[in-house]
Amino acid sequence: MPLVNLSDMINHASRHNYAVGAFGVDNLDFLEGIMQAAENCRAPVVLNLIESHFQGSDFDLLMAATQTAARRAAVPVAINFDHGTTLASAEHAIRAGCNGVMVDTSALPFSENLWQTRDVVTKAHACGVTVEGELGYVPGVEGVSAEQHPGEMTYTSAAEAKVFVERTGVDCLAVSIGTVHGRKKGVPKLDFARLAKIKEATAVPLVIHGGSGLSDDQFRRLIANGVAKINYYTALADAAGRHIRDNASTGSKGDLGLLLAGVRDAVRVEVERCLHLWGSGGRAAEVLAQCRPWHEVEHVVLYNVPEEVSESDVAAIMREGKKSLIAIPGVRNIRAGRAIQSDGKYRYCWLISLSSQSAVEVYRNHPDLLHFSNKVFWPVATDRIELDMEES
Ligand code: 13P
Repeated sequence: MPLVNLSDMINHASRHNYAVGAFGVDNLDFLEGIMQAAENCRAPVVLNLIESHFQGSDFDLLMAATQTAARRAAVPVAINFDHGTTLASAEHAIRAGCNGVMVDTSALPFSENLWQTRDVVTKAHACGVTVEGELGYVPGVEGVSAEQHPGEMTYTSAAEAKVFVERTGVDCLAVSIGTVHGRKKGVPKLDFARLAKIKEATAVPLVIHGGSGLSDDQFRRLIANGVAKINYYTALADAAGRHIRDNASTGSKGDLGLLLAGVRDAVRVEVERCLHLWGSGGRAAEVLAQCRPWHEVEHVVLYNVPEEVSESDVAAIMREGKKSLIAIPGVRNIRAGRAIQSDGKYRYCWLISLSSQSAVEVYRNHPDLLHFSNKVFWPVATDRIELDMEES
């Protein structure tokens, strides 16, 4: 399973002076195009799911496909929830399988951004999930012309970045040094001196948002000054859009299959260009060897109940357990059921899916589990065995 710890992946890039690409995934054409590019270039890759892009589509459905793509890849992959709007949406993303989250509170005053980011770090780190914070404000909206969202840029201050990183405990920091999200006229002017100061003041890898539209030389200088992850979306959307318009102009009107034909390749070509340019091509084997694999864990409980406990009592315990345990951070899913065979050693089973090994500790010590176990479950399930299973 080539899902790897996102923080390890970014730190590897930082140590070896290249940047990993974090590419916005909107649909299956994007997902397949990005993954094919990563495989062709033998590059580690971050699949970015941007919360605002799921207002009209189902996040959980695309997450299921994203996880499948990551699991069957031969190159290292991390799945990042990008520009989350709330702690609750980040928790949902972790439950759905993201191993990195960013909740974007960068438009808030410094101290509010700091406290809210710290809350995200506390919850996400308990599940082993990497957290990106953002300080300073990068205006614009991915996939849209920047003039339509002319927000005021706030540059990141190196002194504030130092405090922010130390107090929040973020694993990487997105900075504002002149980039803008979305489609812009011309190439933005970047403040490399500021970037160098931020790098010197902070001990974490830096992230650039609004990667589309920068020049090759700017990318090289960003990486030389400590940027280890680049977020990139609009240029992929534009490549896809151009391809669809070309298809339409060459007589494919009305036939959806023909209109969309080749979109995946248009995305792939642009991602391959970035992976080569940013130096991540050819790094897959080292990253797989040096970064912690991301393993989900199944907590398995087999049990029996005494004869006087009825089937409806057991069903009620299962319902209560599902309701009270699903809210524990890092619990992804809970299944409870009964053996098909009536002559087996155990008759009932819990399968509790946890996001990572770190989540196991949180789960074991969580007051909701202790209450349920002590008061409800253990008194009836005196005959039981348990284990935490990690896929190998
Ligand atoms: P662009 O769409 O400008 O490449 O920015 C993407 C981004 O920063 C996503 O977080």
